[in-house]
Amino acid sequence: MDTGAAIVPVDFLGRAPAPPDPPSFVNLSITMRCNLRCHMCDCPNIKVSEPTPDRWLAFIDRLGDWLPTGTQVLVTGGEPMLHHRCVDFVERLASYGLKVALNTNGTLLNVDKVERLKDAGLSILNVSVDGLAATHDRLRNGPGSFQGIVDILHYVGKHTDWTLHVVPVINAQNHREMPEVVRFFTADPRIKAMHFQSVIPTMGKPWDDGFFDRDALWPKSSDEAEAIVATLETLKEMKRDGARIDNPEAQFSVWQRYFRNPRNGLTGNECRVAYGSLIAQSNGDLTFCDVFGPVGTIDDDVRAMWESTFAQNRRDDMSRCNLPCNYRVNCCYDESTDPAPADAT
Ligand SMILES: C[S@@+](CC[C@H](N)C(=O)[O-])C[C@H]1O[C@@H](n2cnc3c(N)ncnc32)[C@H](O)[C@@H]1O
Ligand code: SF4
Ligand code: SF4
Repeated sequence: MDTGAAIVPVDFLGRAPAPPDPPSFVNLSITMRCNLRCHMCDCPNIKVSEPTPDRWLAFIDRLGDWLPTGTQVLVTGGEPMLHHRCVDFVERLASYGLKVALNTNGTLLNVDKVERLKDAGLSILNVSVDGLAATHDRLRNGPGSFQGIVDILHYVGKHTDWTLHVVPVINAQNHREMPEVVRFFTADPRIKAMHFQSVIPTMGKPWDDGFFDRDALWPKSSDEAEAIVATLETLKEMKRDGARIDNPEAQFSVWQRYFRNPRNGLTGNECRVAYGSLIAQSNGDLTFCDVFGPVGTIDDDVRAMWESTFAQNRRDDMSRCNLPCNYRVNCCYDESTDPAPADAT
């Protein structure tokens, strides 16, 4: 008789293996909609049927019952501030003692929204900034958006105790400005740290490494690649000299190799992202990354899914993947799996 129960593999002594630890990185992508059209991101062009707010809230309740207090949950998108219940989601997450972070392009933050997010219990604000004023506004197709971010960060710094991160995506068009971007933002003592990302093939589109041959954000020659390598070396030196940059140096070294030859694969032997990362996608699917398909939906018992044989098999499949994807090189970068390559500089 099929009981529907998961078949639990046992070792040679008949013991079931310990269930995997809960994820340390949970990402709620609450919408794909966005008010900007950044060059490196196609999220706003994805047509998604979004779950109702009640489905999100029920999912958050299941997360809250499962995740250890203090686990960081990132609310993102698209532009999460476009979702009319974004603040309610933050509040419900925080009510479970989870540490709630918000990724935003900053353009929809105003005094009223900041005060509401403060009351809701937000802990961390990550604001994307892709250059000094002219470059940022051009890459993000948002005239005036740089100055808007500077102004609202000033207010946030004075009126909240949030941990503030400025998050640039390094690419062929903006890398030369990055040392100045660090100096500009970290002159404000309320900015905890710069957190860099490297550009990956257009976000929101299926993985396509043709990006590396044709996209204007990718270096078009080995000289251009070497110029980015040199910028990354400067950022390492600034960090050594005490600049508030929270990426590990090894991550910059991995990117140096990546910008020289993105098809080299990464330095580690296996992808471990699925052991630490859980993503609730804007259509309600649960995934471990953006490339491998769903492992469930937000309506499922999330803990049972995480501990299931199906999830374990997916982790095994993913372990053999070696793409320089957003999770592997950026948000879930793990020095222990992808150490600095010997030929970094
Ligand atoms: C998709 S956005 C969602 C949150 C918000 N709309 C924002 O821009 O911060 C999340 C992060 O991904 C970054 N991003 C977008 N496209 C990227 C790409 N092709 N490579 C690396 N990072 C990218 C953004 O700069 C942002 O920091
Ligand atoms: S990076 Fe963020 S702000 Fe830019 S288009 Fe994508 S979702 Fe919108
Ligand atoms: S390396 Fe492959 S399996 Fe691992 S997170 Fe990236 S795309 Fe997913």
